[in-house]
Amino acid sequence: MSIEFVEPVDVKKLIDMLLSAFADEWVASYYYTLTAYAIQGHVSEEIAEHFLKEAEEEWGKHARMLADRLQDFNVHPPRQFTTLWEISGCKYPKTPEDPFDIDGWLIAAIKAEECAIKTYRELYSFTHGRDPVTEEIAEEILRDEVRHRTNLLNLLSKEGLKRLESHA
Ligand SMILES: [Fe+2]
Ligand SMILES: [Fe+2]
Repeated sequence: MSIEFVEPVDVKKLIDMLLSAFADEWVASYYYTLTAYAIQGHVSEEIAEHFLKEAEEEWGKHARMLADRLQDFNVHPPRQFTTLWEISGCKYPKTPEDPFDIDGWLIAAIKAEECAIKTYRELYSFTHGRDPVTEEIAEEILRDEVRHRTNLLNLLSKEGLKRLESHA
């Protein structure tokens, strides 16, 4: 048992969860950046800025926290970029064909955040009371993902909100 664990932990499973979440962060970062560059039309400039800022938090903060934790177990992120997609637990929801369908792009991002929330909730439960270091990381990222979801919901138009509710 690793010296920092309070109770025994399945380390292989923990490492797989950390790697999968790390991959999710990169996939989300790519799609958020793509969204920022793709969307067109009314208020697209402001929304593009929002997506770029959020992308930066995914790769610059979350992926880094996960990579640092992986390093504690002497594990490095994948060398092959394609591996990121393969091991990503969330992948990414389908994005709209139409660059003017800003609500559609926001809805895809909201679903991605909901998957992230689920992932960190699971990581939190898995480590709770056993691995306080990872537990705290999961808790902090979970808090950020909930905020991301709320921010994205607030950017939806009234129509968009209806569309999201009818999908759910
Ligand atoms: Fe994230
Ligand atoms: Fe997020």
